[in-house]
Amino acid sequence: MTKSKISLIIGANSNLGLNIAYRQIKTEDPEYGFTFILTSRTMERAQQAGDLIEKFNSEQEKTRDIKIVPIVLDLADMHSIKQTYEKLQKEFSEINYIFLNAALGVCSGINWFQAVKEMISNPLNAVTDPHYKIQKVGLTSKDGMGLIFQTNVFGPFYLMKKLLPLLTKGNGVVIWISSLRSDPNYLPLDDLELINSPTPYEGSKRMIDLLHLSTYKELKRKDVYQYVVQPGIFVSQSFYQHLNIITYYLMMLMFYLARRWGSYWHTIDPYKAANAATYVCTFSDRDFERQDIKYGSATYNDGVEHIRPEEIDDSGMKDVHDFLLSKEKEWDLKLGY
Ligand SMILES: NC(=O)c1ccc[n+]([C@@H]2O[C@H](COP(=O)([O-])OP(=O)(O)OC[C@H]3O[C@@H](n4cnc5c(N)ncnc54)[C@H](OP(=O)(O)O)[C@@H]3O)[C@@H](O)[C@H]2O)c1
Repeated sequence: MTKSKISLIIGANSNLGLNIAYRQIKTEDPEYGFTFILTSRTMERAQQAGDLIEKFNSEQEKTRDIKIVPIVLDLADMHSIKQTYEKLQKEFSEINYIFLNAALGVCSGINWFQAVKEMISNPLNAVTDPHYKIQKVGLTSKDGMGLIFQTNVFGPFYLMKKLLPLLTKGNGVVIWISSLRSDPNYLPLDDLELINSPTPYEGSKRMIDLLHLSTYKELKRKDVYQYVVQPGIFVSQSFYQHLNIITYYLMMLMFYLARRWGSYWHTIDPYKAANAATYVCTFSDRDFERQDIKYGSATYNDGVEHIRPEEIDDSGMKDVHDFLLSKEKEWDLKLGY
C-alpha cells in the first residue's frame, strides 16, 4: 500500500493555496501519496479546489495516489473553528503539514490620485509597496474581535494550537503565509486587534511574523517545526475586485517591467509564489535549517525562481505573544475547551 502524507491547506481555493498543492504533488518524495484537506468558507469552493488538484495530478507524467477531503471553515467564526478541529481530531490520527494561507484584506477602493502620484514618482515602489489602496477601518467579527485580526492571525493560531497533538504525531510542519509588506510600522502595539488601524492587513502580516518568532521554539519541543514564508507579489483572485480589464492589464505590465528592472519580489506566477511555502517542507535536517528567518519566494529578472531569506525584526514580539495567549485563554473558556 502507498504511504500517504496529510496536508491541510487553509484557504485552498486561492491561487496560492492551489499552487501549494500543485507543488507538493510535483516536488515531494515520489513514494508518497497525499490526502489534501482543503478548506473554504463554502463546500462548493473547497470541492472546486479539489477538482483542480485532481486534474493537475492526472496531467502529471507520474501521478500520485491522492485523496481530497473538502471542509467548510470560517476563520471569522470561532464556532466554525471549533467544529473544524473537532472534526479533524475525530477523523485523523495525524497531520503532516498545515498551511495557514487564508487571509482577508477588506479594500473599499483605490485612491487613484495617490496611485498616479506614486506611479510617476517611483513606479517600482508603487507596485511593490503601494499606499493607494483604501482599507476599511473599524471592522469587527460576530465574535466581537477585530475582523482582520481574527481571520488572519488569531483564528488560524487557535486552530493550529488545537491541532498540535495531531501535528506532533505527524512530525508536522506548520507554514504561516506572511507578506513582504509586514513592516513594524504597520502594527500599532496599542491596537493589536487592528480595529482602528488604517492598514489592518499589513498589521496582521506583521503579527504573523512576531507570532512565529515567539512560538517556534515551544512547538519544536513538541516535534512540530514552524516556518514563516512570504510569496512575493503574484496574481491573486482578489485583484479583480477593484480593477477593470484595462487597469488589470496595465498592472500586469507594471509587474513584468518591475521584474525586468530588478524587483526580485515580483514572482507574478502563483506557482512560483508558492515556492517558499513548499521549500521549507523539504528540509532533510530540520535542526540544521534556520527557523528564525522569513523565507521569501523570489525570481530573477528573467523569471527564474529562487528563495530569498530575510531577517525578522523582533520588536513587539512579547506584546504580541502575551496578547495571543490571553485571547487563547479567553476563548478556551468561552468554547469550553
Ligand atoms: N497576492 C499577493 O500578491 C500576496 C502577496 C503577499 C502575501 N499574500 C498572501 O498569500 C496568501 C494567499 O493570497 P491569495 O492572493 O492567493 O488569496 P486570495 O485570492 O485573496 O484568497 C483568500 C483566501 O482566504 C480565504 N479566506 C478569506 N476569508 C476567510 C475566512 N473568514 N475564513 C476562512 N478562509 C477565508 C478564501 O477562502 P474562501 O473565500 O473560499 O472562503 C481564499 O481561499 C494570503 O495569506 C495573502 O495574504 C498574497
